Amino acid sequence: MSTVRFLTGITTSGTPHLGNYVGSIRPSVRASKTQGVESFYFLADYHALIKVDEPARIQRSTLEIAASWLAAGLDPAHVTFYRQSDVPEIPELTWFLTCVTGKGVLNRAHAYKASVDKNTAAGVDPDADVTAGLFMYPVLMGADILMFNAHKVPVGRDQIQHIEMARDMAASFNHRYGEHFVPPQAEIEESVATLPGLDGRKMSKSYDNTIPLFSSREQLKKLIASIKTDSRAPGDPKDTEGSALFQIYQAFASEAETATLRQAYADGIAWGDAKALLLDRIDQEIAPMRAAYEDYMAHPEKVEALLLAGAQKARAIATPFMGRLRAAVGLRKLNTGTETQVVKTVKVALASFKQYREKDGQFYFKLVDSTGALLLQSKGFESPKVAGQAIGQMQRDGATALTALQAQLEPLSTTAHTAVVQALTALALAAEKP
Ligand code: TRP
Repeated sequence: MSTVRFLTGITTSGTPHLGNYVGSIRPSVRASKTQGVESFYFLADYHALIKVDEPARIQRSTLEIAASWLAAGLDPAHVTFYRQSDVPEIPELTWFLTCVTGKGVLNRAHAYKASVDKNTAAGVDPDADVTAGLFMYPVLMGADILMFNAHKVPVGRDQIQHIEMARDMAASFNHRYGEHFVPPQAEIEESVATLPGLDGRKMSKSYDNTIPLFSSREQLKKLIASIKTDSRAPGDPKDTEGSALFQIYQAFASEAETATLRQAYADGIAWGDAKALLLDRIDQEIAPMRAAYEDYMAHPEKVEALLLAGAQKARAIATPFMGRLRAAVGLRKLNTGTETQVVKTVKVALASFKQYREKDGQFYFKLVDSTGALLLQSKGFESPKVAGQAIGQMQRDGATALTALQAQLEPLSTTAHTAVVQALTALALAAEKP
């Protein structure tokens, strides 16, 4: 059995808020730490173009969401973490899927239909102000998912329809061209339905009712103070049902903590006191991540390097797979047969390890790129066998081994680190091939 592949994206159209954290960032980081799971997490910046036409905002949002994911504990050495627009195979696959998707299916997509219904109600042309981008949104999302043959897609309930459409696209393509795609499944976290916002409606940038994930404690306090409650006085029992404050608390608290607050509601806790409890509970979880977040925000070059290394990992899968799909649909070299051809994998110039002994009697190794330039230098080992084992570990585990072997390696600068991550990833992928 192969490992289960998880994949999810966040549209880079705004500042990440507690709803994104609870519904997407936190569960994806947790899933990425599970054994036997391979995860793909990405910044959906092509999707952002559908909603946002301010370039600076897209750039800023991409950095903020990437920094949030990293600060929340996503480890780019263990997952494939990338920016959608760094993988040109995705828009190419979007076109392939466009050609097997019924227009009628897209007519029924919720987001498009909502715009049409609104226009119809207003008595204007049904498609007024609707771009073809909005109409095609589900196909781009299908390409995101099918590009990596993800089995499970952790999303909010509002996205279930999109996953069903991706299953349809996989089936139509497979029906015409043979088995290439795995039908994906939506993975809904039951415990977090949707987080309510300040006004009690779903927390969403479009309602302007969000609590930013990384606000200062002061800001957080102010926003929590503005959560809508009813006018019951201290001492009056309060309803947990329909209480945004209670639901937000529940998304952060343990079952025991939630039970305690439920009792406090019944006992007539003052709204001010309940808000103080919520502030403390949220801050307890977010505060430890704030320093990391601020560090990434102050060093966009670190995030950029990580994303580029991630795109390389993603493309190591996407490029050959796209080659296979091109051949399957008939976009082929003219001097080959008409049968679906076996696509040759592109040979990349791989880095290599060199082992040697120094005058000090110790055994060393180094990693050099295809031109012979030094990428990574080991410290001294007592025996050639132990040095060889460390090399073996890197060849097998790729960049993941860097952390495990840190003590045996000479330190790396940030730029050198990126090059080493890329070289080791390529080596490990090459080793995996049958
Ligand atoms: N549509 C998703 C959202 O707005 C973001 C997204 C884009 C996505 N592509 C995806 C989510 C692929 C899961 C899988 O929340």
